[in-house]
Amino acid sequence: MGHVSGPVAEIDLLLPPSDLSGFVREFSEDYLRRTRAGMWDDSRAALSPLELDSRERILDVGCGTGELSRVLAAESPGEVIGCDADPELLRAAGEFVPTVAGDAHRLPFPDDAFDLVVCQALLINLPDPAAALDEFARVSTDLVAAVEPNNEAVEIESSVRAEGALERRARDAYLDGIDTDVALGADAREVFDDATLDVLETRRYDHVRTIEPPYSDGAVRAARRKATGAGLADDRETMLDGPLTAAEYDELRSEWRSMGRDVIDQMEDREYRRAEAVPFFVTVGRLSDGAGTRTHDQG
Ligand SMILES: C[S@@+](CC[C@H](N)C(=O)[O-])C[C@H]1O[C@@H](n2cnc3c(N)ncnc32)[C@H](O)[C@@H]1O
Repeated sequence: MGHVSGPVAEIDLLLPPSDLSGFVREFSEDYLRRTRAGMWDDSRAALSPLELDSRERILDVGCGTGELSRVLAAESPGEVIGCDADPELLRAAGEFVPTVAGDAHRLPFPDDAFDLVVCQALLINLPDPAAALDEFARVSTDLVAAVEPNNEAVEIESSVRAEGALERRARDAYLDGIDTDVALGADAREVFDDATLDVLETRRYDHVRTIEPPYSDGAVRAARRKATGAGLADDRETMLDGPLTAAEYDELRSEWRSMGRDVIDQMEDREYRRAEAVPFFVTVGRLSDGAGTRTHDQG
């Protein structure tokens, strides 16, 4: 039997958990906490097509540390369950909602267990996002939603002149090395169509993160990771999977570390300021005839 952790364990029809070793991209708790800081705090208007005030059971797939799960739990009278393939992250999400380990392509729940199945920044990490949406449709009776970014359209302004251009270079090299659609947010409607879900609405939400004095511990840690090159090193293998050569990577890393030292210098003088805007798109669909049948057929 699958295992629900957390205070509410009303879902007692869990299917046996599937093998979770197939999922590839890993995220650290620190990265998710830092990059989601303040998300949905300024406005939740883009979430209104999710009809949260009338939901009874919500599943947040690929919930990570539960950054969206806790917003769903605050906005809905219904029960919210978080599901992720990474048990480490689930431990953190368990602070906010009950959690279940599971693969988005083979959710450990029976048909029709929820009236909303939603994900945030999951589909951009999956090679076949329509297959996952099919599976969402299988376990939903009504709504399926995806909150996905367009990571090709991230904008950065920084008081360290080189930072914006270097981050763009590093991001482009990383995106060239991966084989999933990181711009999917802007085109999620097409994936919903592939999964035979009727799209009700798409709304945009720009997640703007600013760093300015007084600096948070997370901001100081991020600056140190720039100066040591540690953050870039984590992505080295992925970058080298694209056209970037090892020599180009070394050159990028050296410029990156120098930029990181400038960030730290400016922080010491309380002069460092940075703003990053990531466009997210909330796409909401309703089950149409035949939705979820691909996954039903898998038995
Ligand atoms: C970018 S993070 C997003 C986390 C969270 N939704 C948020 O917005 O902060 C992507 C998450 O999807 C999870 N994930 C990736 N592939 C998965 C799969 N096949 N099944 C379930 N979760 C998966 C990762 O472990 C990670 O927690």
